[in-house]
This record gives sequence, structure tokens and C-alpha cells, in this order.
Amino acid sequence: MTVSVAPASQYPAYRDDPDALQSDSPLAIDDKPSPSPRRFNKKNLLLLVAIAALIPVLYFFLFWAPSRKSTAYQLTPTVKVADYPTELLPASSEGRLIFIGDIHGCNVEFAQLLETVGFEPTQDKLILLGDFISKGPDSIAVLEMAMKYDAACIRGNHENTLLRRYAKKHGQKFDNDVRDRLEDGTKSGDLEHFDDDDDDDGEGATTVVGQSAKKTKRKAGGRHAVHPHGGQKHASAHTEDDDDCMLHEMDDTLESGDFDPSTGGFVHVMADEKKIIKKASPEQIEYIDSCPLILHIPEQIFGPDGGDVAAVHAGLMWDVPTLADQDPAVLLYIRTLLPPNNSTASPSRDGILWKEVWNDYQETLPPSQRRTVVYGHDAKTGLAIKKYSKGLDSRCYKGDYLTAMVAKRDGLGGWKHGFYSVKCQVHDPKLPGYVDGKF
Ligand SMILES: *[C@@H]1O[C@H](CO)[C@@H](O)[C@H](O)[C@H]1NC(C)=O
Ligand SMILES: *[C@@H]1O[C@H](CO)[C@@H](O)[C@H](O)[C@H]1NC(C)=O
Repeated sequence: MTVSVAPASQYPAYRDDPDALQSDSPLAIDDKPSPSPRRFNKKNLLLLVAIAALIPVLYFFLFWAPSRKSTAYQLTPTVKVADYPTELLPASSEGRLIFIGDIHGCNVEFAQLLETVGFEPTQDKLILLGDFISKGPDSIAVLEMAMKYDAACIRGNHENTLLRRYAKKHGQKFDNDVRDRLEDGTKSGDLEHFDDDDDDDGEGATTVVGQSAKKTKRKAGGRHAVHPHGGQKHASAHTEDDDDCMLHEMDDTLESGDFDPSTGGFVHVMADEKKIIKKASPEQIEYIDSCPLILHIPEQIFGPDGGDVAAVHAGLMWDVPTLADQDPAVLLYIRTLLPPNNSTASPSRDGILWKEVWNDYQETLPPSQRRTVVYGHDAKTGLAIKKYSKGLDSRCYKGDYLTAMVAKRDGLGGWKHGFYSVKCQVHDPKLPGYVDGKF
């Protein structure tokens, strides 16, 4: 005996509902089933669901996708070396050049520092040394201020990774040879690399080989020079070989939490750059995109012996005389040089600080060929003022200081310079005393 069964689709939805079956009276069964209200509801529901599903799809094609396309800023080729326009140089001692190290989104400290130096927007010129975004509480606010004051900027490794990510997101070509790392076998590096700032914690592109995971201490000797801070002008007397000027001698211990055995090294994630891309206006992206890797200032700000000035995020190779020939990865990441001949930038912190070699080498050159580098990037070393190199990253993000080097004409045909710092709050959530969250 066979039982013919209607296709499942003909069953009303409640057929599996025992209560519904029970309440069904045989009398209600009819040859010509009147449209059941429940079936009708189901159809309606399906229709509603279909419409509801269509709305976002329509929205995507009609509004969101086109708007995304039309508002995306078109990145331009990376500017490797830009000359600071001489007409923007202060003509008298009224105006000043104000160099500021890695701000890292610390907008409050940035504003305090400007107040501390008595920043005068109509006369003074700001020069940001890269990594003004990421990590800290409000990179967008920093961008707003930088643009409002028409600050000259240098591209740092965080700006670079942001631009690379932006290019990828909008299907644009990132058409330069700026790698996110110092790599194996190149002029600029030979190990898998370790990018980031001070801290071995952060965002940045990359991994470092396990070997560097060894806890290392650099410069254990106690040079805990402390400067008058909190808004006071440092004596401009930092001069020559005053490594002692380092703000802090940090424990160079890597944080074990960053070690990822699956990759055999340290892994950095760049959540911040992604967030900034979401929030930034096309004009703000354009501003970041405009920052050159090197800002050349054809002026003897540090005296006739000091030569001209190159402002750069991380540093320069001493044995590459022409700025345009410098390796972009070096400009963004260099900290140390490797044996045997100091000619290879280290992807880790092994080796000798590039500024040591740089300074020794400048002395061997005729004064007319010397050059002074103003840079940031190396928060772990901290404020590091030497004759031919001025390292201004004083680790604000981690609660130390944000530092400005202020240069102005001395009225006698030369220049003089001084340093100002403000104390920072701890913005690194991993450190004790951490005060505020990210946006
Ligand atoms: C420096 O050392 C490296 C590695 O030993 C070598 O390949 C390179 O030729 C050396 N460069 C100079 C200028 O001696
Ligand atoms: C590397 O640089 C340091 C500092 O300038 C110097 O003392 C050392 O002799 C250099 N090494 C070589 C092989 O040139």
C-alpha cells in the first residue's frame, strides 16, 4: 500500500507543530483550500525578508561603493628627498624652526609642547619627524593640528605602513620601493627583521627572528642623565659628544608576550593604522602622503662645521653620500649597524648605533661635506644629542617626554638651538600608570 504524500512545500508551516495539528478540525479540510492566513503570512514574511535583504545590496551599489571610490584619495609617488623651501626659512630671529620627534597620536602633549615653546603660528615653522600617528590616543587630532599649522612632515614607518594599507584597501598601486622592513641580504639589513619603534611591542609590519628574542641589555652602564623638564628650556649647552644627554637608559628587555613561536619570531599587528584609515579624511591621507622620506634643509643650522641638515625619521647610512641614494628602508627603520664593517643596517638591535658611526665619520670629512641629521624613531635610546645627529624621540607614548628642538637665527649670520620637553602620560596600556584608552 502506498500513501501519496503531498510535496513538503504544500504543507503549511505548522504541520510539525503538535498543537496546531490537534486543533485542526477535520471539518476544516476542504477540496479547495482557502488561502490559509498562516500561509499568507509566510509569503508576506518571505517577501519582507527578500526586500530587507535587498536594501543593503542596493545601498551598497547605489551609494556606498560609489562614494568609497569617489572619496578615496589617489596616492602619489613617494617623495624621497624634498628641499625645505628657503622662502619658508625664518628670515630673522623672530621666526623659528621647531622639530618634533615621534608624537604617536599623543595630541594633548603635542598641544602642551606647542604652548611650552610659545609656538607662534604666523612666524614659527613646525617640522614633524615621522611617526606622528599610531599608538597614542588620538592620531586624528594630531593630524588636524599638523595641518592647521601647516607643519612640514617626514614619513615615518607608521605613516608608511598606513599608506601601504590604504593603497591596498582602495586597489591603488603603492608604487615605490619602500619596504616595510630591513631585509635579508640587502644593503640595509640581513636578518628577518624587527621593525618597530622603541618597543618591540607594537604595530609595524613584521617579525624578528627568534635569535633576537634573547633578552639583551644594551649599554648597561649607568648614564642616567636627567634634564630639567616640565616645560623648562634646556640649556642649549648640549653639545658635542653628550650622549649623556639621553633622557633615559631603558631596560632593553623584550617583552615575552610578543614572541610567537609559530612564526619563530615577534609578530606585530597594525590595528592602529587600520583604524586611522577608517577615520581619516581624504585630506588627512593626502597630508600623510605628502610627507617626504627626507627633508633636506640647505642651511647650516648647527654651525659651519655641522654642514647642512637632513631631517629623516630613523637615520642615514654613513657610507651613502647622496641623499637620493639612501635606502628607503634605512630611512624608516635603521637603528644599528652590523660588523664587520658597519656597512649593513641591522634588522634587530644588534651592532653599533648608526649615529655613533655617523658622528665619527663626519669628523673625517672636510667641513664643507659634513651633514647633521635630525631624526626620531629610537625611543629606546631616548633623546640623543650629538654633534652631527639630533635624536628627538623621547618616548612620549610610554610616558616619558615629548621633545622639540627649536632653532632660530642668532642675528649674527648663524643659528642657535635649544630643547624643550613636556612630560607625557603613559599611553601604553601594557605599562603601569596607563591613563587612557584608544579611540
Ligand atoms: C663589508 O662586509 C660585507 C660582509 O662581510 C662585505 O660583503 C662588504 O663587501 C664589505 N664592504 C666593504 C666596503 O668593505
Ligand atoms: C664601526 O664604527 C665604529 C664607530 O665609528 C668604529 O669605532 C669602528 O672602528 C667601525 N668598524 C669598522 C670595521 O670600521
